[in-house]
Amino acid sequence: MGRKTLIIYESTHHGNTRKLVDAIAEAFPVDTAEISEAVKMDLNTYDRIGLASGIAFAKFYPDMEAFANERLPEGKKVFFLYTCGKDTGRYASHIQKTVEGKGCQVLGVYGCPGFDTYGPFRLVGGISKGHPTEKEIQEAVDFYGALGE
Ligand SMILES: Cc1cc2nc3c(=O)[nH]c(=O)nc-3n(C[C@H](O)[C@H](O)[C@H](O)COP(=O)(O)O)c2cc1C
Repeated sequence: MGRKTLIIYESTHHGNTRKLVDAIAEAFPVDTAEISEAVKMDLNTYDRIGLASGIAFAKFYPDMEAFANERLPEGKKVFFLYTCGKDTGRYASHIQKTVEGKGCQVLGVYGCPGFDTYGPFRLVGGISKGHPTEKEIQEAVDFYGALGE
């Protein structure tokens, strides 16, 4: 029997978000795919799809926002994972609206800090150094576990 959950990830800045995805995939029977692979896959075989991304300019990465808009099949159960330099609690709002607009059910959102050396932060050695921590990674695993079957 095929696996029912696929997590699609884009983690280009420092691989921060990928740490969450890898830990979930170690703990649970889920498939994972980098976004460039996911565009070639048949997503209809999955009941549940996770979208995992770093944050750029207060949204999920542009390719992930576009993927949600253009490629995500309608009517799926969807959850979100992200890492960011400094959280506002609103970074998933835009993509969440897109996904809800496709008649998908949003199951939940998990976000935590991730090492950020973008722009001026580079000059001070970056922010959120050492993040995601082991604890934050475990929280992501627990978040996934709490979604249930
Ligand atoms: C171009 C760019 C823009 C960013 N914009 C934001 C932002 O608006 N808010 C924020 O908290 N972090 C921002 N960040 C930081 C990243 O979201 C953060 O480092 C994240 O953990 C990177 O995830 P990744 O390593 O999985 O790609 C930005 C990073 C880059 C490269």
